[in-house]
Amino acid sequence: MKRREAFKKIGLFTIIGGSGLAFLSSCKHEASKEVIAAPLAAVATPKVKTEREKLIINRSNNSFADPNNPTKAELKHTPEIILGEKDSLGNTLVKITIGQAGIIHPATKQHWIDYIKVFVNNKLVAETEFANGGIRGFGHYYLALNQGDKIIAESGCNLHGIYESGLNI
Ligand SMILES: [Fe+2]
Repeated sequence: MKRREAFKKIGLFTIIGGSGLAFLSSCKHEASKEVIAAPLAAVATPKVKTEREKLIINRSNNSFADPNNPTKAELKHTPEIILGEKDSLGNTLVKITIGQAGIIHPATKQHWIDYIKVFVNNKLVAETEFANGGIRGFGHYYLALNQGDKIIAESGCNLHGIYESGLNI
């Protein structure tokens, strides 16, 4: 209770102190007839979306409704992770394509995989954005991996949302 009373007093003092400062401040500016302009950085300017960004209308997270029997639509959106050879420095080739079981996601101007993200042990290590139309959701990465690491690949479809898959090393 004492702490609460102390905080109330501090809060009241702060309000009075702040008002007093504002009053003093306004008097000073009235006397000098000084006009203060807001700094440009403080003025919020709305971000203008690109045509590509306007087409990205679904950012919901999805998963297989039945993991033992995924639908073609689910497979079409889910990243497939394939490990390749190691390079001379020991980094492992990781191939990620969308989707699985040979079902390829469309790559048109209106419907496409707009990004892939790759995480190792929940840390984002790569992010690739794709233009709409003319490029398929696919990426090759060389990752420094250790036994026991977990790779997660995440993909975003502009119309159908976000899907992910994982692979334990
Ligand atoms: Fe899609």
